[in-house]
Amino acid sequence: MSPRVIKVGLLGLGTVGGGVYRVLHKNRELIARKTGVGLEIAKILVRDPHKDRGLPLAPGVLTTDPHAILDNPEIELVVEVMGGTGAALEYARRALAQGKSLVTANKDMLAAHGKELFRLAQERGADLLFEASVAGGIPIIRVLKQCLAANRIEQVIGILNGTTNYMLTRMTAEGSDFQEVLRAAQALGYAEADPTNDVEGYDAARKTAILASIAFNTRISFKDVYVEGITKITAADITYARELGYVIKLLGIAKDTPEGIEVRTHPALLPQTHPLAAVQDAFNAVFVRGDAVGDTMFYGRGAGDLPTASAVVADMMDAARNILHRVPGIISCTCFEERPLKPMGRVRCKNYVRLRVVDRPGVLAQIAKVFGDHQVSLAAVTQKDTRGDRAELVLITHEVAEQNLRDALADLGPLEVVEEIGNVLRVEGDD
Ligand code: NAP
Ligand code: HSE
Repeated sequence: MSPRVIKVGLLGLGTVGGGVYRVLHKNRELIARKTGVGLEIAKILVRDPHKDRGLPLAPGVLTTDPHAILDNPEIELVVEVMGGTGAALEYARRALAQGKSLVTANKDMLAAHGKELFRLAQERGADLLFEASVAGGIPIIRVLKQCLAANRIEQVIGILNGTTNYMLTRMTAEGSDFQEVLRAAQALGYAEADPTNDVEGYDAARKTAILASIAFNTRISFKDVYVEGITKITAADITYARELGYVIKLLGIAKDTPEGIEVRTHPALLPQTHPLAAVQDAFNAVFVRGDAVGDTMFYGRGAGDLPTASAVVADMMDAARNILHRVPGIISCTCFEERPLKPMGRVRCKNYVRLRVVDRPGVLAQIAKVFGDHQVSLAAVTQKDTRGDRAELVLITHEVAEQNLRDALADLGPLEVVEEIGNVLRVEGDD
């Protein structure tokens, strides 16, 4: 008997959509045998139906009319790989409102409008699956929702942006500066012409919001995430960090603490011995600590047509199986709690502080006094790069509340002996 065929509407046929099409085409038999369902791409929405896409497309499959998918009763499964929060959001709402299951790779949409979309999916008994929205091909959404479901998750720390990890890897290997490496990343097609979303940390912050929501069963949106990008990292910071036994990585961090959920994305010094420190180039990885399983880490390609399609198609297979067995929505939204967020000022970290100072007796004592006045205890102080009567001081603090450090820095800035506060970076993963 031939398997039941489920008709699919694909919204978008760019990098990810093209990958989805290729994987479905190449592994059609295998997918049908694994699911008991034939997945048929019935319609594909694009902007330009005349573009050469290098794909074996059936005649008439492309459309520029969203109604051909959203209002087509034969289409039971919609796959949104258009991106953005404009038309994609409108179409996602319409698909779910019609009771169609939805698979999406769109972190921008989920990190801002997840609550509404999950409510809609729940009301309509539809699946809303989004494995590809965080860390591309790495299984992590299903891991947190299902495989580690028995755990109380204590922390999730991720390298969630391939572009910036590639840039930091190059800066570390070659001692190059940020601008030089950005140009190289753009030439290779890693960084976009407008690299803001990647280098300012917004892309990683959206992914952090999604991971935190699932890990801690409470809705966390992009606006809740404290964000800093990598634009201020210099070759000197990377060298000094290495000398101290650390690497610098852009991290998405989410922790469950007694004072609330900590959720932040920023560059940080990570011990060279931490499993995430070995993640190089454009690779992503997510480190998860659960109260039963202990430490785990998930590693792979966070972007690209086929790695991302690997996650999208697996979601399509789950959604199709659920339709076949009449159980769509069986694993729905897991945000059943309302947890407070821990204010950033109360987050406790060790810190790296690089200062350019006047090099003369008594300067260190003045600086140490300011830190001491704000209960910031210093763990290490090294003098670097002495030129004439100027020197660079690199300090590592003991763990301290962020607000105390900020207050100390505010008092240090105006000191006559402090020429510049070069950089301040948190130290992560030392626990
Ligand atoms: P992309 O290459 O720019 O492709 C977007 C596709 O959507 C194109 O086929 C485009 O049509 C179509 N489209 C866009 N707006 C449309 C509109 N208003 N009406 C009709 N069609 C429209 O994007 P992508 O890189 O595949 O990314 C898609 C999604 O996957 C995004 O949410 C992204 O964040 C996510 N994602 C991407 C990656 C990755 O590696 N690229 C990894 C993980 C997640 P035309 O082809 O006719 O222009
Ligand atoms: N721009 C992202 C990255 C890929 O560099 O990892 C899409 O999320």
